[in-house]
Amino acid sequence: MSSAYEAVYARSLKEPERFWADAAEALHWDRRWDRVFDDSRKPYYRWFVGGTLNTCYNALDLHIERGRGKQPALIYDSPVTGTVRAYTYRELRDEVAQFAGALRNLGVEKGDRVLIYMPMVPEAAIAMLACARLGAVHSVVFGGFAPKETASRIDDARPKLILSASCGIEVNRVIPYKPLLDQAIELARHKPDRCVILQRPQQKAPLIRGRDLDWQDVQAGAAPVDCVPVAATDPLYILYTSGTTGIPKGVVRDNGGHAVASHWSMENIYGIGAGEIMWTASDIGWQVGHSYIVYAPLLKGATSLLYEGKPIGTPDAGAFWRVISQHRVNVFFTAPTAFRAIKKEDPRGEHIGRYDLSRFRALFLAGERSDPDTLQWAQTRLGVPVIDHYWQTETGWPVLANCVGLGLLPIKPGSPAKPMPGWDLHILDENGHESPRGQIGNIVARLPMPPGALTTLWNNDSGFEKSYLSHYPGYYLAGDAGYQDEDGYFYVMSRIDDIINVAGHRLSTGGMEEVLAGHPDVAECAVVGVADEVKGAIPVGFVVTKAGVTRGAADIVPELVERVRQTIGPVAAFKTAVVIKRLPKTRSGKILRGTMKKIADGTEFAVPATIDDPAILDEIAEALKTIGYPKNR
Ligand code: COA
Ligand code: AMP
Repeated sequence: MSSAYEAVYARSLKEPERFWADAAEALHWDRRWDRVFDDSRKPYYRWFVGGTLNTCYNALDLHIERGRGKQPALIYDSPVTGTVRAYTYRELRDEVAQFAGALRNLGVEKGDRVLIYMPMVPEAAIAMLACARLGAVHSVVFGGFAPKETASRIDDARPKLILSASCGIEVNRVIPYKPLLDQAIELARHKPDRCVILQRPQQKAPLIRGRDLDWQDVQAGAAPVDCVPVAATDPLYILYTSGTTGIPKGVVRDNGGHAVASHWSMENIYGIGAGEIMWTASDIGWQVGHSYIVYAPLLKGATSLLYEGKPIGTPDAGAFWRVISQHRVNVFFTAPTAFRAIKKEDPRGEHIGRYDLSRFRALFLAGERSDPDTLQWAQTRLGVPVIDHYWQTETGWPVLANCVGLGLLPIKPGSPAKPMPGWDLHILDENGHESPRGQIGNIVARLPMPPGALTTLWNNDSGFEKSYLSHYPGYYLAGDAGYQDEDGYFYVMSRIDDIINVAGHRLSTGGMEEVLAGHPDVAECAVVGVADEVKGAIPVGFVVTKAGVTRGAADIVPELVERVRQTIGPVAAFKTAVVIKRLPKTRSGKILRGTMKKIADGTEFAVPATIDDPAILDEIAEALKTIGYPKNR
């Protein structure tokens, strides 16, 4: 099939205002915009200025008015609790409107922040949509973070209210959420007025009198409320993501641009029309979950699937195929790490044959680089196109992709293909010159970014400019290195900062170093992301103890592991460290993390000419052997 992609992309750059105005026609606007695009406050570009709309209205009520009231909007499939529950558009709208009424009774109004710390249950999506209905700004915190991370988000967002649940379920373990929330509030300087707790039957939580309320009680007495129109430029949500230090960045997403870009992406990128079924196996705490479990499928009038389970172990490596078959999923989206986990357990893909996957049309992968092996394994066994696409919390929707809806371009394993509309992407060298084709450089986007991309960092315009816009004036610095080939395909190869991708989760090694450095015995440390067969990368610590410390690795390492778990959370998957005499450094004192990674990975490396003491590298290799690295030797 020939692709309309090139013409669509060219038009988006040539006449961006007409392109996005056309896309915006699909939505309901309470007031039409005065200007599609406003660049009067560079570098703070705004889309659909003067327009008002409500994202929840466009995600729910509009479809009921268009006759989709009886169509499933959300299907909750939870192998960990043995539950399958579907909500039609009407049922979901009614739940959301009533819960929005409950929030309003608790004093939540337009512009107030509400923090959501919840497992993968439908109430989490209902809570997000209820905030959007009121024009309140939600900030969802992923359940696998430790209280300190939640506390830093509470202090930055200053929520009026926190919504949480008594527990989450990880395969077969019940994880009490409430004690983690209580600790987070204890640690935070800002205190919310109230916490509303969903009591799950697997483990109920004691409520604190005067502060905590039972979800069912607040919802039961509430009257449904209508949607509050907000400015297109008003924030819909804040989503915190790892920065290059331990301090998270609060990415701000607006209402108008987000709705337009999300809606456009459904049919054109994913090939999903109204009434069709999309399943994104991620978590609502991540950007992928915000965009493609909650907002975009509903804005399109499609059916979205919310899955509380894992690719393996709930109950087996056939879990994904069971869900796709049972719910007649058309398009499925997850992270490559999930496929590596399945491939390890079911290398021949025998579970696949047990299910009817006849409705399944395409698999999308993102969150980390799709290694060609995994992509080809999936493609061969599933017999559908497997599409690697690239995006970030900051961008909100794909920057690079291969569009099913426009007619696929040839798939090149290892490449997430070509830029999406409005993303004027370039590869620049350190001096700001365009890198020749095939040569690696920094991935940047010429400003303005299209609708849907972050508008700033919450309470931190200067951080926004410093992190993303100051490196190359006039460009957004993505933070990834890559190259473009002769056919214009992009390849995203690595981060240019300390961010690592652990099982598709974005984490800062700098943040982990801060935690290790806080241990009383530690003088100096480094954390490096080492290649892992399933998770892509896992962090390994290197610590030097203070003079006079006689305790060895056997005592110190378990304490370090526990510290990272308690401070950042289990999601960091920090499980190993070595104690060494010195860190390898250049003569100017820069820690040679890249060389340490290569030793741990067992890849070839040249001893850096600037190293102050080459003998330390042998000591590191010996220490790594004691914890089983490199793995492939
Ligand atoms: N609440 C509480 N704890 C959580 C959690 C949550 N929502 N999510 C993860 N954790 C915990 C896990 O229980 C685990 O704890 P442990 O060290 O005590 O075992 C730890 O955090 C790491 O979790 P995870 O990264 O999920 O690793 P895993 O070994 O349990 O599973 C995969 C590995 C590959 C199966 C899993 O990461 C996966 O399915 N990934 C899909 C990728 C994805 O969703 N990416 C998001 C962007 S698209
Ligand atoms: P997050 O903000 O958590 O979505 O993480 C975004 C980061 O994940 C990007 O900056 C990349 O480093 C990485 N990433 C996401 N998708 C891809 C992809 N398809 N190929 C390579 N890296 C990716």
